[in-house]
Amino acid sequence: MSTANDLLPGAGLNPHFTGYRCVICAREQPRDYAGYVCPDCGVDGILDVVYDMASIRSEVAQTGAANAFSPTTGTGLWRFAPLLPVRPEAAHPAWALGGTPLQPAPRLAAHLGQQQVWLKDDTSLPSASLKDRAAAVAMVHARLLGVTHLACASTGNAAASLAVLSARAGLDCTIFVPAAAPKAKLAQLLLHGATVVPVDGTYDQAFDLSLAEIAKHGWYSRNCAHNPLLVEGKKTVALEIGLALTAGFTAHPDQWPDAVLVPVGDGCIISAVARGFNELRELGLTPGVPRIIGVQAAGASPLAQAWSACANDPAGLTGPEIRAAIQPVTCRTIADSISVGIPRNRIKAWRRVAATGGGFLAVPDETIVEAIGLLAAQAGVFAEPSGAAGLAGLLAARDKGWLRPNEKVAVLVTGHGLKDPGAGLGQVTLPAAMPPLAG
Ligand SMILES: Cc1ncc(COP(=O)(O)O)c(C=O)c1O
Ligand SMILES: [Zn+2]
Repeated sequence: MSTANDLLPGAGLNPHFTGYRCVICAREQPRDYAGYVCPDCGVDGILDVVYDMASIRSEVAQTGAANAFSPTTGTGLWRFAPLLPVRPEAAHPAWALGGTPLQPAPRLAAHLGQQQVWLKDDTSLPSASLKDRAAAVAMVHARLLGVTHLACASTGNAAASLAVLSARAGLDCTIFVPAAAPKAKLAQLLLHGATVVPVDGTYDQAFDLSLAEIAKHGWYSRNCAHNPLLVEGKKTVALEIGLALTAGFTAHPDQWPDAVLVPVGDGCIISAVARGFNELRELGLTPGVPRIIGVQAAGASPLAQAWSACANDPAGLTGPEIRAAIQPVTCRTIADSISVGIPRNRIKAWRRVAATGGGFLAVPDETIVEAIGLLAAQAGVFAEPSGAAGLAGLLAARDKGWLRPNEKVAVLVTGHGLKDPGAGLGQVTLPAAMPPLAG
């Protein structure tokens, strides 16, 4: 009997993908390893996908960068197939996505007195957040493995991405959410046909429960902080910035960001962004790696707190030292998507950010609300609180002296404002109604 999975186009592995390496002990696993995390280090032993970069470099040299990264199996992120672990054999609405605009924001830049500001606007993805990039890779990998049921824990957006793309693919999904997640986000999941399991607890508790259930039922884990393949999908946001600023890898940019601002919850997006820029530099396609600055809400800022407590040599810490430096916090912020008490990908995020010369900072909710207003009025982009945190971080980075006004900056806008419109209400005064025409 054929399953929904059989109706999808086929998928294969990238021949340049060679296996996995643990971020703590560096033990390697073969590429058919199915355990998600390091067997020695447990749940903190998150794995990195390993590629044979020398063979990717020679493929790119032989075919030319423009050909190596041309749109092949559909538009969007699959043009980066040489740098992704899996690849579909044909385009399908469940995974053909990406290619979002990198929009210069001259009015916003002038308003802030910043030389150049680009907005990488991922609000236009199918479920209106950057998380679709990870879910697209999950869909292709699940297809490859023949698994028809996917699951995740999420504060909302990862769940939405899984629900939307599962509906497109005709696959089943189960989603564990903190019961306090915004109602609009829960409605979206249910409308797309997901099984929703509200957890009477925090995101962190929902995450632990999801791992237990995934293991019990043999589902596919779309938990980005757990499944190392998914971060690779998120990496494409950085690859797209590189592609856009080099006219498709054909020209050396005269415009290149000095810094990139990234909202941080579990630390997956930021780890992926740093990795993406590093790979482009390694392949000689871009001039360098911008400083990557991670932005947390002040009420959920374990990484930013540990970073400021360890100003000496953040780049010199070992994995266990990083783990010891970052203490769990109790969260309180309007930015529900980055309300994470103990970031699952903290070690990877810390190391990668440190290597770029960037850092982590925290922004109060008031600055996030201000950033929502600035994005809307000065750039015509509507962001949810977590989606606007990157711009809030720009303001804070300027105040801290981490960013000079004469520098060029790219800001990730990671989630659409209509997901949580209430947060923007603090920025506006609704006008009083006027009487209609008489008669
Ligand atoms: C809109 C938005 N921005 C940023 C983040 C943070 O991403 P990460 O958890 O990978 O750090 C999330 C995560 O849910 C999100 O939904
Ligand atoms: Zn390990």
